[in-house]
Amino acid sequence: MLPYNIHHTAIAVSDLDRTLEYYATNFKIRPISIETIDDQGVREAMIALGGSHIQLLEPLHPDTPVGRFLAKHGEGLHHIAFAVTDIDTAVAHLREQGVSLIDEVPRRGGGGHRIAFVHPRDHNGTLIELVEVHDG
Ligand code: CO
Repeated sequence: MLPYNIHHTAIAVSDLDRTLEYYATNFKIRPISIETIDDQGVREAMIALGGSHIQLLEPLHPDTPVGRFLAKHGEGLHHIAFAVTDIDTAVAHLREQGVSLIDEVPRRGGGGHRIAFVHPRDHNGTLIELVEVHDG
């Protein structure tokens, strides 16, 4: 139930294609996936790096969570995702502890994973995402 790894570190970007070009040119790494997630209002790319990933998030519109984040903070660190094996138990435990959950019920995220966001106010201003992973 407890987090056992950093599943990904997410960066908000204004131009995903240009950012991917930067990673390809300077680090010789290419995304393992690029997908549009309509209910989060983002186009996202995953870059595999060691046992973890960098997730690049581009808003589909200014009036989306990532669009509003960019308007307020500019590009930069958006959230850190913890891998958990049982997200239902993890969410129930955090709720019991009085931690502020953005998602009271896990939902479907990128890669088909079940995810839940935890409010940044309980994490020193950093948005945390839980990602359920079964294959390690
Ligand atoms: Co994420």
